Amino acid sequence: MTEPTQSPTAPPTHLAPPATMRSAFHERYGAPEEVVSVRTVPTPQPAAGEVLVRVRAASVNALDWHYVTGLPMFARPSLGLRRPNRQVPGADASGEVVAVGDGVTRHRIGDRVFGEIDGGGFAEYALAPEDWWLPLPDGVPHEQATTLGVAAETALQGLRDWGGLREGHRVLVAGASGGVGSFAVPLARLLGASHVTAVCSTRNVEAARARGADRVVDYTREDVRDLGERFDVFFDNAGTLSLRDCRRLLVEDGTYVSVTSPKTTWVKPLPRMLAVPLVFAFTRQKAPAFRVASRSTSDQAWLMDQVVAGRLEPLIEQRWSLEDAPDVLRRQGEFHAQGKSVIVP
Ligand SMILES: NC(=O)c1ccc[n+]([C@@H]2O[C@H](COP(=O)([O-])OP(=O)(O)OC[C@H]3O[C@@H](n4cnc5c(N)ncnc54)[C@H](OP(=O)(O)O)[C@@H]3O)[C@@H](O)[C@H]2O)c1
Repeated sequence: MTEPTQSPTAPPTHLAPPATMRSAFHERYGAPEEVVSVRTVPTPQPAAGEVLVRVRAASVNALDWHYVTGLPMFARPSLGLRRPNRQVPGADASGEVVAVGDGVTRHRIGDRVFGEIDGGGFAEYALAPEDWWLPLPDGVPHEQATTLGVAAETALQGLRDWGGLREGHRVLVAGASGGVGSFAVPLARLLGASHVTAVCSTRNVEAARARGADRVVDYTREDVRDLGERFDVFFDNAGTLSLRDCRRLLVEDGTYVSVTSPKTTWVKPLPRMLAVPLVFAFTRQKAPAFRVASRSTSDQAWLMDQVVAGRLEPLIEQRWSLEDAPDVLRRQGEFHAQGKSVIVP
């Protein structure tokens, strides 16, 4: 580890990491308000190739809720069989470099960086390999940068890679609000959609329109199935329609992309996930198997370019302190966020 005081580019002393820090923590699965606490723990030390960052903002994701609750049960092989693999929530973080391990060349102490990490963002300091951190351009607030991880990548990869969205496509976004949905609408536009229909509830109608939807269907008053329209890409972030109805909403060679799954029981998501390829078999319509967005620094860099150019503005719903982490995670589990929530440790 390179000590800040030994560096020729020594940072201001306030950047030097203390021996201990405040961090959210959970050792077992359960309801967030029961298993997550905020405590004082040793500040992690960067090993070779790692970078320690003073976290200035960490966005909240459904992924954090899955790691805390251990649900759905069939995901335990990746979440951790008996105990969570990630004990500190926070998959996205933005802040300043305070210490680097041996061999780190990409970042220097004092650099502003952001990135998607393997948990650890809900803490004053977060550690990750140097490749996972990207430079944060001047003028972009940490609170915006930290939203360009899991949720934005899901919307981008879902529309562009799994949905094959091309110039001129007509796109349906169901669940056009919250973390993923608030990105899906403007990204559909940026990727060239000629027309975007957004489905959301009354309180999100104006935001969906402001973010680029040509038509907004308020699901509390209207039924998207009554529009009598078919779409080239159906980005399903709600999962409320039957798969047969999803098919009927697509043109002959349209693509159905599901990024969500029911949350209510331990195994409930499984039948629908397994049914997708069957329902779409023997048709020209496509429905890629359910998948999880992957960390992509090139996608995050592209998203940041859009922000810097003023073409994309993250929708930040609420800012929270680190001590609020259990409550934030409980609220995330309600799945009625309007935009991104951000923890400011
Ligand atoms: N596959 C992946 O890689 C991946 C990655 C990230 C997230 N996800 C999944 O994507 C989903 C969304 O995550 P998120 O972080 O965006 O959650 P979120 O921020 O809580 O947003 C969920 C949104 O869904 C809307 N919604 C709920 N019921 C709806 C309905 N019947 N019709 C239309 N919209 C509805 C809610 O709006 P209202 O309050 O107005 O209903 C809310 O804005 C979750 O299921 C999550 O697990 C998947």
